[in-house]
Amino acid sequence: MLKINYKKLLIKKNKVPITCLTAYSKPLANILDGKVDLILIGDSLGTTLYGMKNTRSVTLEMMKNHGKAVVMNTKSSMTIIDMPYNTYRNKKEALKNALDILSFTKADFIKIETDKKNIDIVKYLTKNKIKVVSHIGVTPQKFSDFNKIKSVGKNTKDANNLLTLAKKLQDAGSKLIVLECINLHTSKKITNNLSIPTIGIGASKYCDGQVLVIDDILNLNPNTKKPKFIKNYYNIEKNIIKAVNSFAKEVKNKNFPSKKYSY
Ligand code: KIV
Repeated sequence: MLKINYKKLLIKKNKVPITCLTAYSKPLANILDGKVDLILIGDSLGTTLYGMKNTRSVTLEMMKNHGKAVVMNTKSSMTIIDMPYNTYRNKKEALKNALDILSFTKADFIKIETDKKNIDIVKYLTKNKIKVVSHIGVTPQKFSDFNKIKSVGKNTKDANNLLTLAKKLQDAGSKLIVLECINLHTSKKITNNLSIPTIGIGASKYCDGQVLVIDDILNLNPNTKKPKFIKNYYNIEKNIIKAVNSFAKEVKNKNFPSKKYSY
């Protein structure tokens, strides 16, 4: 299968919705490759894989190692990797860490959580030939407690501020913009006013594409409280329990390993 490229993503805007899911490991990269346009190595791995309370303790080393495993096993989809918390506080720091993460992983894009204070960083990274995905609306790195997260862009002032920010980020060179937990009218307005694609998460069908955390759609973390925008497509927990119970039963009954599985 041919690799998707940025030109093809741009052509999809306003025509065919762009698909994106997270992956943090080789097996999931292999499964997702070519079935979605974009694979995101998100810093959500901190909470979903490592059981952290928020994404602030995710390190550059963690992102590099998971990123490399995913990119090495992705041939057709494009890859986006998150810059973790406190790794892009100023232009120089952002460039040094973006180059480090991209040279190690070979991902196609880096993603940073953006507000009006770091538009210059997007501009600087772009000037240095780094492909940047901006992330606006609810930006999880701002929250130490995810229970405090609420959707944004509901009133006119907030909607206009988000639209202005999105336009500035586009002008600064962002290749894509992730809109998280943004009111549907505001997402629609932002999407219609940009020439680059928007990828929504809890930001309505009016975005040019959608992203979700794969663990959430598979119900891999059944005991965590999920936001409204998550749709569960498959109950993998139920099937893992079935397999584990069968294994335990066969071991206890001495039915496993049988001759077939012995040397
Ligand atoms: O880290 C992540 O998985 C993300 C998505 C939720 C967009 O940033």
